[in-house]
Amino acid sequence: MSHKSIKQRKRGITMKNQRETILTGDRPTGKLHLGHYVGSLKNRVALQDVYNTFIIIADFQVLIDHLEDSHKVKTNIKEITLDYLGAGIDPAQTTIFIQSVVPQLAELTVYLSMLVTVSRLRRNPTVKSEAQRIGVDSEQDNITYGFLGYPVSQAADILLFRAHCVPAGEDQRPHIEQTRELANRFNKVFGKVFPLPELLISETPRLPGIFGEGKMSKSLGNAIYLSDSAEEVRRKVMSMYTDPTRKHASDPGHIEGNVVFTYLDAFDSDFERVADLKNKYQVGGIGDIELKNHLFEVLMNFLRPMQKRRNEFEKHPDYIQQVLKDGCARAVEIGEETMKLVRKAVGYNYADLFSAK
Ligand code: TRP
Repeated sequence: MSHKSIKQRKRGITMKNQRETILTGDRPTGKLHLGHYVGSLKNRVALQDVYNTFIIIADFQVLIDHLEDSHKVKTNIKEITLDYLGAGIDPAQTTIFIQSVVPQLAELTVYLSMLVTVSRLRRNPTVKSEAQRIGVDSEQDNITYGFLGYPVSQAADILLFRAHCVPAGEDQRPHIEQTRELANRFNKVFGKVFPLPELLISETPRLPGIFGEGKMSKSLGNAIYLSDSAEEVRRKVMSMYTDPTRKHASDPGHIEGNVVFTYLDAFDSDFERVADLKNKYQVGGIGDIELKNHLFEVLMNFLRPMQKRRNEFEKHPDYIQQVLKDGCARAVEIGEETMKLVRKAVGYNYADLFSAK
């Protein structure tokens, strides 16, 4: 499948001088962390200037593996919205909306579900690995219909807004592939309604967790959250994985696999200083504590302005409400425009059945 880098895309846009639509989203399972920032939020903040941008808070998708926690989702939606706004997502440029509040998404999902076979869904590698993680097998019958079918629902998320691009990580590639197949099939069977969306791959490598094993994730308990207090950040930085072979500050240390340096590379904009610290570390010229103190300062300098904004927004719940209300209203409006085209293409535009002659 084709994809374009963000730089290529930006050039393409200025040349054409028209705004294409992007749609991206998150499952509201908790607060956002540094890994989300590096891997997606940062891109979204940059892309909203260039694209007509939608962010879906995919609350239906949470039900796949959080049935028992469904009552926590509302709080998570508020937290994630605060994280977005704190990080610089601008509601004047980006439509933030909630999946379950847009009925057109469910309607489109029904049409799309007729265009894909169960065996095709069973082969989706992301569904496979996610199923494995929660102890079910997508090839067997112990997977729910909703879980197996969620790529269809995600395709509806993207297609309802006739998005051209989906900024996301590599793990979402199978879903974009599936979305393209569904769009193609719909267009062939009923007539052209949908553009084929492209994956806009995030070029930054995944940020590891603080203990160095695997990516930063809530479930692994290795995350620094955007809203963590200074004490929490300090505690987490001090417990970070560095170089297990080094006993004394005067021993030569290793850079590769040293999480503190991975984070400095990601967050310290003073590249010369980072290069200098690396040199010192390799010859045994700086201890872990001093290095970690530096990283703590760097992270707090990065987090403080975001947290200040986040705290301001948190004091105004009526504003957050309005952002979500406006976002959902706009999503419903655009969704209805697309559904008019869909119903017409299928032949299910029944207005004349109900209007008096
Ligand atoms: N599956 C995505 C994730 O887990 C969330 C998501 C839902 C999404 N709908 C989407 C992402 C549409 C991009 C486009 O992160």
